Amino acid sequence: MDKIAVLDFGGQYAHLIANRVRRLGAYSEIFDGETPAEKLHGYKGIIFSGGPQSVYEHDSVKCDPKILELGVPILGICYGHQLLAFMQGAKVEPAHMREFGLTEMKVLKAEGVFKGLGPNETVWMSHGDSVKQLPPGYEVIGETPGEHAAIANFSKNFYGFQFHVEVVHTVHGQKILKNFLDLCGADFSWKIDDYIAQEIAAIQKTVGDKKVFMMVSGGVDSTVAFALLEKALGPDRVYGLFVDTGFLRLNEREQVKTALKDLGFANLHIRDESKRYFDSLQGKYDPEAKRKIIGDLFLEVQQDVADDLKLNPDEWLLGQGTIYPDTIETGGTRHAAKIKTHHNRVPQIEELMKKGRIIEPLAQLYKDEVREVGEKLGLPQAMVWRHPFPGPGLAVRCLCAHEEKYPEHHTLVEKKIDAFLKPYKLTGKILPIQSVGVQGDYRTYRHPLALMGAVETCDFDTLDKIATRLVNQFKEINRVILTIAPNKIDTLKVQTKYLTPDRIQLLQKADAKVSEFLVKHHLQREIWQFPTVLLPLSVNRESGECVVLRPVSSEEAMTASFYRMDQKLLQDLCKQIFEIPGITAVFYDVTNKPPGTIEWE
Ligand code: XMP
Repeated sequence: MDKIAVLDFGGQYAHLIANRVRRLGAYSEIFDGETPAEKLHGYKGIIFSGGPQSVYEHDSVKCDPKILELGVPILGICYGHQLLAFMQGAKVEPAHMREFGLTEMKVLKAEGVFKGLGPNETVWMSHGDSVKQLPPGYEVIGETPGEHAAIANFSKNFYGFQFHVEVVHTVHGQKILKNFLDLCGADFSWKIDDYIAQEIAAIQKTVGDKKVFMMVSGGVDSTVAFALLEKALGPDRVYGLFVDTGFLRLNEREQVKTALKDLGFANLHIRDESKRYFDSLQGKYDPEAKRKIIGDLFLEVQQDVADDLKLNPDEWLLGQGTIYPDTIETGGTRHAAKIKTHHNRVPQIEELMKKGRIIEPLAQLYKDEVREVGEKLGLPQAMVWRHPFPGPGLAVRCLCAHEEKYPEHHTLVEKKIDAFLKPYKLTGKILPIQSVGVQGDYRTYRHPLALMGAVETCDFDTLDKIATRLVNQFKEINRVILTIAPNKIDTLKVQTKYLTPDRIQLLQKADAKVSEFLVKHHLQREIWQFPTVLLPLSVNRESGECVVLRPVSSEEAMTASFYRMDQKLLQDLCKQIFEIPGITAVFYDVTNKPPGTIEWE
């Protein structure tokens, strides 16, 4: 079959590009950015992915220059675009303004890769460098203010895009990619059934005559992985373990138990380890420290169960439902930066991986593909379409604090922010806590900004622009939230709080209201994921804590847009949550990913 080679230069993008190529029905294969040209003979086209580095740094990843002589079409994206241009003599420099988010591109030549596009197209950017002077033989085919957004060498069939064609926010991204695949003469016969068949054969080969011990969470990924392993190996050779960490949703243990039993997974065992998790997390507040403890505990519990069952490690592999975004965010590919440590990528797991003791049948897939595999395997819709829920559960949605933390000169920064917000009749308050974000492929740990004032009369498009500009302009913040109930903050006080059962119970109550709301208004599919977050802050001198609502639209979690909820529904939901005893304020997150991540930690 004729495949497209995707060269991985780090960041989050190579697998997303490969996923997009598959979505168009073509075959793709990922290679490290430094792969020698001779390994790429026979591929129909080559795509250079984005990446976090700068091409002019001497130690940044470069590709074999002979790749340019293979005689096949090449498309460079973001870092890949800069690299392609740089290798042919272009000047690449820091951009006059770092760009993160949506922008309008003027299409100068609606032909070839841009066939069928309109004069202006919405594209998505995330970059700090840009191509200043074109290499010989190139022309600009798309422009954004001050940037060569797209360049082409038509005689060679080489194209460079500063914007990310592969993310859903680039409105006609798939059309542009399809045009490129057409120029390559790609074969469009790829199907998800091919993947299932290949993966079943691969599982049988990797596992040999051993068995698999699999941690299941009741979520989509681990259930689909479990089903695939069972299909490949038969039920007797797969042992499922469900651990109650104490950070599950309200009544989730019983629900998962019933659901998995109904699906016919007979070999499933449940263990309540909540006390152990709470004990180990006493006094912890740093998100990465929390994540590491939780990840390590999963392994300890799994080891204890294995010891109890007297499983011989030489006869068992550990199965995980890891999907691609988990790997990439942990910095798990060669050139990627670490955003957050996912529970299934802690160092001990990485050690086991090196020893060949881990099996992850979905590791190359994105959520949309996992769901398709789940449907093909006959899992019910309600299971396949459950919202993703992180392994560490509510623990990463329950922020902890041991002291107040403001950025330097925060009153001065707030004054500047208020001057920016004045035309919109809004004001801002920087919160004295931090949350995780991602910008230009790197992790950030910065402050949220709470907007107050005419938020309910401001439309979401304007709020989106305001939030994007604020985060681009003020390095102290990486998230913007709306203050809904009450609508004004006079005082804010940080509470010294850690992960405790009473806080998790409070969060479970708020989260359960959100789940009911989703069902009642049939929004489970339209909203991709809806984290409910508890902040250890009391507002206006009242005791208690705050809740942030974080519904997002996404396709694969690598990028996401905040969900534009109907104002009436939003007010109703906030009111219900505000009425829960112990809640002093409710906020609504209007940050896209990037610059904010979906979860707050
Ligand atoms: P972020 O917050 O990085 O999340 O935008 C992307 C997606 O990953 C989920 N997530 C996790 N899933 N273990 C998981 O299985 C984890 O440790 C973890 N952390 C985040 C998150 O819910 C979202 O869908």
